[in-house]
Amino acid sequence: MLNPYLRPLKTTYSVTFQEEILRRRTFGIVSHPDAGKTTLTEKLLLFGGAIQEAGAVKSNKVKKSATSDFMEIEKQRGISVATSVMAFEYLGRHINILDTPGHKDFAEDTYRTLTAVDSVIVVIDVAKGVEAQTKKLVAVCRMRDTPIIVFINKLDREGLDGFDLLDEIEASLELGLCPMSWPIGMGQRFQGVYNLWEKHLLLYDGQDKQRVGDSITIDDLSSSELEERIGEEAAATLREEIKLIQGVYPKFDKEAYQAGQLCPVFFGSALNNFGVKDLLDCFVDIAPTPQPKKAEERMIQPHESVFSGFIFKIHANIDPKHRSRIAFCKVVSGQFERNNNYLHVRENRQLKFSSPLTFLASKKSIVDVAYPGDIVGLPDSGSFRIGDSLTSGDPLHFKGIPSFSPEHFRFINNEDPMKSKQLAKGIDQLMDEGVAQLFTLTSNSRKVIGTVGALQYEVIQYRLEHEYGAKCSYEPFQAFKACWVESTDEQELKGFKILKTRQLANDKHGRLVFLPDSQFSLQMTQEKYPSITFHEQSGE
Ligand code: G4P
Repeated sequence: MLNPYLRPLKTTYSVTFQEEILRRRTFGIVSHPDAGKTTLTEKLLLFGGAIQEAGAVKSNKVKKSATSDFMEIEKQRGISVATSVMAFEYLGRHINILDTPGHKDFAEDTYRTLTAVDSVIVVIDVAKGVEAQTKKLVAVCRMRDTPIIVFINKLDREGLDGFDLLDEIEASLELGLCPMSWPIGMGQRFQGVYNLWEKHLLLYDGQDKQRVGDSITIDDLSSSELEERIGEEAAATLREEIKLIQGVYPKFDKEAYQAGQLCPVFFGSALNNFGVKDLLDCFVDIAPTPQPKKAEERMIQPHESVFSGFIFKIHANIDPKHRSRIAFCKVVSGQFERNNNYLHVRENRQLKFSSPLTFLASKKSIVDVAYPGDIVGLPDSGSFRIGDSLTSGDPLHFKGIPSFSPEHFRFINNEDPMKSKQLAKGIDQLMDEGVAQLFTLTSNSRKVIGTVGALQYEVIQYRLEHEYGAKCSYEPFQAFKACWVESTDEQELKGFKILKTRQLANDKHGRLVFLPDSQFSLQMTQEKYPSITFHEQSGE
């Protein structure tokens, strides 16, 4: 008889390309600042063994205070390169968390990162409910039907009633919900959660908050064990509430979740590591594997043997002593291999990468092979632009990454006539990196810079001077939004162009953009030209 204590001799076995794809889960965590995104990320990494102690991810946090000290922010952004992607292994799955900046002025970065994830976890503070940034980010997810899991955080504090909160999320985020766990009290009275998915009770230890308690299986909620564990009153309330949930909310349906139509909801406390394991266990079970991606030519499937990928983020280190850029590439299909030649489609030339990077928690290292779903950091000296495609096969163009209307607009002027070339080059490259958006007025070719946050103007001015030796100044430009113009009626479009000539511009791809100075002006224009559509986001 075989000795059961003998380990099999073969300790390594090859995992096929197919299996590598199937074990990958690439997702992002999004939230309004302070809801607990960083804390949750950190706890997930702890479970995955990618970090050993709490606090390791904190340096990634760009403080959300109204600071305008952008050098400080850039310093922190510099640190955050390493935590842009955090990979870890859990239960045989290879998990890639894509970090998104917390500071609202970098929201555009977050929108772009969302084009590279296969699903997201939205963190909501139980006391604050749905906040402004949550709304915007979820709207971006909904545009692509990205599967969403909701984590309601900070149950150790007093907050909104669970049902009221679910109503608010459904109504203001327009999400279909399916509670997977349910809280037993909150704040001082918080006793834990009942997990409807696994049918177990998870008790919160108010004394030893960091202790991850054992789960207690309770298949049948009418069992008297419930009273023994949480007391009579709480047991009665829980039974009543679970009954209500089962009557009101749909049963979990994996297909509906993966189609972005139904969002599982978990309750917990990231800080106290409570409910995080339940979330992670469910996540690895239900979250989608790497998804196909649309290229202009056709849909690209992850299991295709030809490598393809696209650049969704460019990170420049503005420290002149260590100037470098890293272009983040999401592998869509095939295998990415170090030192192989790949076609940079837009520039129609072959590139080879001798030191592509992978990221494990806060460590970067050189990667030899990456699979669909993975992110590789490509050291870049200025040849990439956001949205660029790379491939080892025939040229293909991944559908671009949409631009969203900026919220601030200013004219940019050249302050040193001898340096106009440098200024133009600098602006061009910064726009390729996605720092801001450039609009060129059609009437007089003046350049207008549009940004999500006012902070970007300082960043641009500083970088133009220090990296390109060019000086610029700004002048106010009154605009309320940037609206990409689409019309089926040539005659009407012609009339519109004549009347609004001073508020028309081209974006960097030459697309026509209307820059109305107020909501009212946009409304009036829309009424006058009903056949014209004004999009607050550029098409993909
Ligand atoms: P963010 O990335 O979404 O901006 O949020 P972050 O994780 O930084 O959390 C924001 C604040 O909320 C932090 O406190 C954090 O400790 C706290 N927090 C996160 N999860 C929980 C929770 O489950 N319960 C409670 N009570 N607090 C939670 P801070 O004081 O702003 O920062 P720090 O001094 O703790 O770093």
